[in-house]
Amino acid sequence: MRTSPVMRRMVAETRLHPADLILPAFVREGVGEPVPIGSMPGVVQHTRDSLKKAAAEAVQAGVSGIMLFGVPEDGKKDALGTAGTDPDGILQVALRDVRAEVGDDLLVMSDLCLDEFTDHGHCGVLDAEGRVDNDATLERYAEMAQVQADAGAHVVGPSGMMDGQIGVIRDALDQIGREDVAILAYTVKYSSAFFGPFREAVASSLKGDRKSYQQDPANWRESLKELELDLAEGADMVMVKPAGPYLDILARVADAVDVPVAAYQISGEYAMVEAAAEKGWIDRDQAILETLTGIKRAGARNILTYWATEAARKLR
Ligand code: PBG
Repeated sequence: MRTSPVMRRMVAETRLHPADLILPAFVREGVGEPVPIGSMPGVVQHTRDSLKKAAAEAVQAGVSGIMLFGVPEDGKKDALGTAGTDPDGILQVALRDVRAEVGDDLLVMSDLCLDEFTDHGHCGVLDAEGRVDNDATLERYAEMAQVQADAGAHVVGPSGMMDGQIGVIRDALDQIGREDVAILAYTVKYSSAFFGPFREAVASSLKGDRKSYQQDPANWRESLKELELDLAEGADMVMVKPAGPYLDILARVADAVDVPVAAYQISGEYAMVEAAAEKGWIDRDQAILETLTGIKRAGARNILTYWATEAARKLR
C-alpha cells in the first residue's frame, strides 16, 4: 500500500487543506517599508500596505483566516497598554484596513493581549508589587474586545492566560450587541522557550518571564481544567500552543471536546525549520508539510502557521 504516490495519496488518513490554515501577521506602526524579522527568515513586520497585500494573497491561496498582531511606535507603550484600546491604535487601524481589503473572504482575527502595548511587556497590568494583576487586567481585556470588534474583527483571540478572561470578553461583546464576534481562546498555552523569535517580531519590552500565568511544560492535567473553564465561559473555539512539543496535549484536548480545536505552530517552531534548512540539514518543503501533517494528525482542525500562504499554495 506504499508503492506509489497515488496509492499513498488514496489511503492517507490525514489530509491538509488550505482552509485548515490561519496566517499570523505582524503590522508595525509608522514604517515605510516592511521590516524583516531576523530570527524568522521570510516573515516581516508589515506596513499597513504590505499587510493588505499579504491578506489578499492569503485569500487567493485559500487560507481561512489571518491573526493580527500590532507593533506600536516607539514611545507609545505605557504601563496600562493604552495603545491596545485606542480606536486609532495600530491594531485597530490594521483590522479596519484588512476588513476593507478582504471583506468577508477571510476571517479577520485579532490577538487580544496587552503585551505588545505595555512598557513592561507583560500580558496584563501590574499591581503595586509588580505582579500581574489578574482582575484589573480583565477590565482592560473587556475594553479591548469591544474596540477590536468595532474595528472589524470577526474573531478575537485572547492570548494572555488570565483566569476568567473568556467570560469577561463574552459579556463585553454581548453588551455592545456583538454576539456575532467569535472567541478563539488560547486555552492551553505553555510558558515556552519557543516564543523567543516572537519577542523580536513584536519588539517586546519583556524582562523576566510569563511563568506565573502561562502553563508549566511538565503538566498536562491543568490543560483539561483550563479547557473546562474556557468552554463554560463561552469559548467558541479552543487552541493549544505551542503545537509541535505539545502534540500529546493537543490529542487529549481534541478527544475531549466537540468545538473546533486549533493549534499554533509558533515562532520558534518556524525558526528551527528555517535555520536547519538554511544550513542544508533538512529538506525545507518536506519538513514544513511534515510538521503541519503531524499537528493535524494529532487532532487540530485548524493550524496557525507563518507558512500558511506558502503551504496553502503547495496544497492546491
Ligand atoms: C501574546 C502572544 C505571544 C504569542 C502569541 N500571542 C507571546 C507570548 O505569549 O509570549 C507567541 C506567538 C509565537 O511565538 O509565534 N500576545
